[in-house]
Amino acid sequence: MTAYQTGILQEVPSAARYLSFSLIAGANPVETLRRLAEQTDGQSLVVGLGRSLVLMLGAEISALTNFPVHAAAGIEVPSTPTALWCWLRAEDRGDLVHQTYQLCDLLAEAFECESVLDAFKYDGGRDLTGYEDGTENPEGDEAVNVAFVRDEGTGMDGSSFVAVQAWLHDLSLFNALTQEQQDNSIGRRKRDNEELDDAPLSAHVKRSAQEYFTPQAFLLRRSMPWSGTRGEGLQFVAFDRSFDSFEAQLKRMVGEEDGIIDALFRFTRPITGSYFWCPPMKAGQLDLSALGI
Ligand code: HEM
Repeated sequence: MTAYQTGILQEVPSAARYLSFSLIAGANPVETLRRLAEQTDGQSLVVGLGRSLVLMLGAEISALTNFPVHAAAGIEVPSTPTALWCWLRAEDRGDLVHQTYQLCDLLAEAFECESVLDAFKYDGGRDLTGYEDGTENPEGDEAVNVAFVRDEGTGMDGSSFVAVQAWLHDLSLFNALTQEQQDNSIGRRKRDNEELDDAPLSAHVKRSAQEYFTPQAFLLRRSMPWSGTRGEGLQFVAFDRSFDSFEAQLKRMVGEEDGIIDALFRFTRPITGSYFWCPPMKAGQLDLSALGI
């Protein structure tokens, strides 16, 4: 039976930390990755590898492409690739502090920590705007089908591709919108999460309605609110069997199909954008055999 990193399938935890690492110039990461594989349970720690790291190992994961750059009127969608991504998941923020030290020590020979983002569950699973996030997520077997690679052989089956974007909210701008404008930006009523059939075409859920893409563009979203010295927002995190659905969604959001820009951009902007491949698990640790490790 194929094993995957189970944290991907579980509900988001109360607290989390997203760490990005770059490869130290001249370092050989193989032994460090071996140690990381042994220490990763896939549940309290979910790991993803960036394209530069995979190439450094002389391997090829064909669906692991570069995060695309987009621009629309007054809007930049940046691409900020990095070698390694670690999602620490816990119920206690103190645990995350200790786990961060352990992880950075473990990786120190080959990787340098570039950024740490603190995230949390808000009000049972809402974005900081107060809207429920994840309502239309696939569940159970459907979630497994959406998120994990199958029929590609040992080492690939059970792996997943994750798109990660930190969005920085301007909550002053958002709070200045009327309730109706807010609801129309999302396309759902904040009060009861009811989908608004008559919302404008710019409403976020009209842009991203998964069944209205050809082929359908389902994602398993595991986003979490974050806050830090830069401000606050949503760490958008979406798992899939490739990046096709995410890219189709993003293009529609920035208006590349019909010129209509997602109303989310009225009050929030992506400040990072990266893609990673999340290896499967085998015998309780990461299976890096697809990379020759
Ligand atoms: C600040 C950034 C974002 C916020 C605050 C946000 C918030 C939301 C909210 C409140 C919903 C409605 C409830 C739900 O079904 O989850 C939603 C739906 C959704 N979002 Fe986002 N989102 C953001 C970015 C994105 C991005 C970048 C993508 C993909 C490129 C995306 C894809 C989706 C999808 C696929 C749905 C479900 C649509 C459906 O099938 O009805 N979101 N989002």
